[in-house]
Formats: sequence, structure tokens, C-alpha cells
Amino acid sequence: MYNPIKEDLDRVDDVIRACLATEDKRIYPVSRSLSGASGKRLRPVFVLLSSKIGGKGGENVIALAAAIELIHTASLIHDDVIDKADVRRKKATVNSTWGNEFSVLLGDYIYSKAFFLLARIEESEILASLSRATSIMCEGEMIQIAERDHWDLSEAEYLSIIEKKTASLFSASCESGARLGGADSEKVNALSRYGSDFGIAFQIVDDCFDMIGEEKDLGKSLGSDLKAGKMTLPLIFLLDALPEKGRKEVKSLLQSKDRSASQAQIRQMVQEYGTIEGSLNKARAYLEQAKGALEILEGSVFREYFLKLADDLLQKTVSRESAAGKAQMTL
Ligand code: IPE
Ligand code: IPE
Ligand code: MG
Ligand code: MG
Repeated sequence: MYNPIKEDLDRVDDVIRACLATEDKRIYPVSRSLSGASGKRLRPVFVLLSSKIGGKGGENVIALAAAIELIHTASLIHDDVIDKADVRRKKATVNSTWGNEFSVLLGDYIYSKAFFLLARIEESEILASLSRATSIMCEGEMIQIAERDHWDLSEAEYLSIIEKKTASLFSASCESGARLGGADSEKVNALSRYGSDFGIAFQIVDDCFDMIGEEKDLGKSLGSDLKAGKMTLPLIFLLDALPEKGRKEVKSLLQSKDRSASQAQIRQMVQEYGTIEGSLNKARAYLEQAKGALEILEGSVFREYFLKLADDLLQKTVSRESAAGKAQMTL
């Protein structure tokens, strides 16, 4: 699938490894454990593919892809502190091994490495665009904390949060990759829309699987959304679907002291009422919209890769259905 960018992806990994290398033995094990636990590298894939649209590659594009993956990695290290997660990328999280203090600083350290890379790209719009996307992402995470235990959160408010915390970086990956690759502004805008819609769908799917997925399939801690009082789409749809009495019961379950028993009940209800399915339908609609944004690339071989990436995510929503209620998804 990633053939046209395979070598570039290896170069991105080299840059990331070089950025995380440190001579200091006291912090070396941390960076080593991080480089050994790479994720799916989706955002670098989007940067590199987008750069191919205009055709201009080179060191700057590699640095951009590495910087965005570093920003994403830093956000996950901080997110795992917030979510008190133990497992990430099939390994123990930095917070569970090294503690929260180390995690906060390691996240900061990685952000600064990312912005150092970006600062050396001589296109001022790129640095501005990634700075903007990063601050929007942090706003999304902060708003989510502020909205904890607000059981009346609307679908529109939820979508606005995930657009900020997740879609903004996907969108910036596509947009800045396309811009640096020399694509014209119409194509840059189309890719930015594709990235945003893909990112919204990605987070909806992730939220469904936080509720009903299996940790061993996803390689990360799950169930933290309900535990932390985060409202996600299946729960919003469940509250919408219930009559007043049922709504009250679910709200009291959400506030109950014995959270693990109440979580099991809620997990069962979102399946019974079909609100996981409803949420996945919503994700599918965003993926269709994402694909629609790329009509302008008609005829380009790279368009096919973007369509395939959207279809892969779509497929994961479908394979869950055919698994008769058992989550089979590995994001
Ligand atoms: C996880 O992102 C965070 C979300 C936006 C849901 P990824 O699923 O892309 O994480 P890695 O990089 O593959 O670990
Ligand atoms: C976090 O969302 C996304 C970020 C922008 C950091 P989640 O909390 O759902 O991500 P996971 O499930 O831990 O990967
Ligand atoms: Mg999390
Ligand atoms: Mg999640």
C-alpha cells in the first residue's frame, strides 16, 4: 500500500530516531523505549502522499513528516497521563514505567524537538500551520477535560471537540504536505478537507472501540472514556434514544460509585440500542465526505491511495459488524 513512499517513510523513521537520541544515560532508556514502539505512522503517510500531488519531495517533506509524528507522539504521552493509561503501542506507557513527572517533561521535550525541525523548513506558512494545529489540538484536549461528567453534551459539541483534538492534526498533515510538495491552492484545500473528515471519522471509530473493543487487538488501554466521564458519540446517541426515565437511569449509572459494574451495563446498552452502529454510520458518512473532497485529484494515481486509506478505516467499521458484536478492529 505504501510502496511509493516506503523509502521516504524509512527516512522519516531515521529522523525521528536521530531526534530522540541522547547521550545522557539517565534519559537514554526513555527515548530508546519510544523509538522501539512506533505506531501506525498514519500522519507521516498523509504528509508524504500529499507532497506527491505537487511532485516536490526532498528533505523538507521528510522533516515535516517526522515533526508531525513527533507532535502526535508527544500528545499521546501527555494523553496517557490524563487518561491514566498503562498500555500504548503494545508496550507499557511512559507514565506507567517512569511516572507522570517524567512523562510531562518527555512530552515537552518531544514537542520542542518537533518544532526545531519545523523551524528549519524555510516556508513560514508551514511553521504557522503546525503551530496552529498543535494549539487547536491542545484546546480540544482541554475542552474535553472541562466537559467531563457533562452528560448533556450535544453531538455538535462532541464533534467540535474531536475536530480540534484529532482532525486538526490530520488536516494539517495533508495540507502542509501538499503545500510543501508544490500543489496548487485548490488541491491544498481539498486535501485539508479530506484530512479533517478522515480525522473526525478516525476519532469516532476510536471512541466506539474504547467502549467495546479488546485491549489485545488495539494494543492500548481501553475503557478510559467511560471511567473518566468523557461523553462520546455512542453514549450521546444512547441518551438521545432513551425516554426520560431511561435517560435518568443511565445518568445515575454514569455517576455511580461502582463504575466498573455500571460501565459493563452501559457497554451492553450501546450495543442493544444500536448506538455503536449509529456512531459507526456517522464515521462512514465522514469517510464518504472525505473521499468526495478528492474529486479534484481525478486521474492522479495518488488519489487512489487516499481513497484506499479511507476504505481501510471503513472496512474496520464493517468487520466489526460481521463479527457479531465482537470487536475485531485493530486501529
Ligand atoms: C491515537 O492515534 C490517538 C487518536 C487520535 C485516537 P493513532 O491510532 O494514530 O496512534 P498510533 O500512532 O498508531 O499509536
Ligand atoms: C486522544 O484521544 C487524542 C489526542 C489528540 C491525543 P484518545 O484519548 O481517545 O486517544 P487514545 O484512545 O488514548 O489513543
Ligand atoms: Mg487516551
Ligand atoms: Mg481513544
